[in-house]
Amino acid sequence: MSTSVAPAIDYAAEIKRLKKEKNAVILAHYYVVPEIQDIADYIGDSLGLSQQAEKTDAAMIVFCGVRFMAETAKILNPAKKVVLPDLDAGCSLEMSCPTEPFRKFREEHPDHVVISYINCSTEIKTLSDIICTSSNAEAIIRSVPSGKPIIFAPDKNLGRFLAKKTGRDMLLWDGACMVHEAFSIEKLLKLHSQHPNAKIVAHPESEEPVLRVANYIGSTTGMINYVKNDPHDEFIVATEAGIMHEMMKAVPHKKIIAAPAMEDNTCACSECHFMKMNTMQKLYLCMKNEKPEIAIDEELRLQALKPIKRMLEISKQAQL
Ligand code: 13P
Ligand code: SF4
Repeated sequence: MSTSVAPAIDYAAEIKRLKKEKNAVILAHYYVVPEIQDIADYIGDSLGLSQQAEKTDAAMIVFCGVRFMAETAKILNPAKKVVLPDLDAGCSLEMSCPTEPFRKFREEHPDHVVISYINCSTEIKTLSDIICTSSNAEAIIRSVPSGKPIIFAPDKNLGRFLAKKTGRDMLLWDGACMVHEAFSIEKLLKLHSQHPNAKIVAHPESEEPVLRVANYIGSTTGMINYVKNDPHDEFIVATEAGIMHEMMKAVPHKKIIAAPAMEDNTCACSECHFMKMNTMQKLYLCMKNEKPEIAIDEELRLQALKPIKRMLEISKQAQL
């Protein structure tokens, strides 16, 4: 009896072929696996990815990130096909802000301007006046006339950081990202004592004790630029571990150390299992089959488009 083994698929080569054949663009977040980052047409933070999605002339957007990011791309591009390797790639921060309780919260404060972090559902976006990302949140908040109270959702850590930075009166929704809340300040301080010359860089979704000891706080792109441009050669990085790939590529001569997570975390560092649902195999299959595809009700899309457009306009004015 003869046995035959199917030849292994060269995913990288097939993905490149499909990209050409289907006039597709691959947009990837810094938190996805290195193989996907290396094959993407653009890697970026949430703002950069939205800006790329807005201006692309490709026929199909292949989004390697989480669902709310692909939905934002679809909201901006209703005529284009937007596919995501795994539709179950959600976001713990998005889940911490369900629609009906948030609608009620908003109705209880009708005089407030609602600023929502892009890490939220399309429904929450329809209940918002302006969307922001960690790159432009400060500029967005400053664009609201002083004296006007603000509701900030869903991330309380980012909200607290921004309220302090801008001195604005902000009502915060009680949401958080489980990846960024997993960092242990005790372990971080211990690690720092072993690397006293290292600078600490942190994403603003991290908890206050971590932010208090950080030398730089910013978006993923901001953190990469800081590590690139700062003369120091040792850094402890408090955000999702996927960012290390781009950082190490950008500054191979510098020492980049992942901030440690709490004992009960599944991994020694902090990994977003939603981002890690994007694999080369699923990416290949979704390009081949052109699904799973993102679909959004048109009425909902038009309502969610307004606060996203406002964000993009304010970002342009602020040259972000
Ligand atoms: P950035 O916009 O900084 O890339 O953040 C995205 C995110 O999901 C952080 O957890
Ligand atoms: Fe959401 Fe946190 Fe994952 Fe970012 S790292 S996508 S905020 S769960």
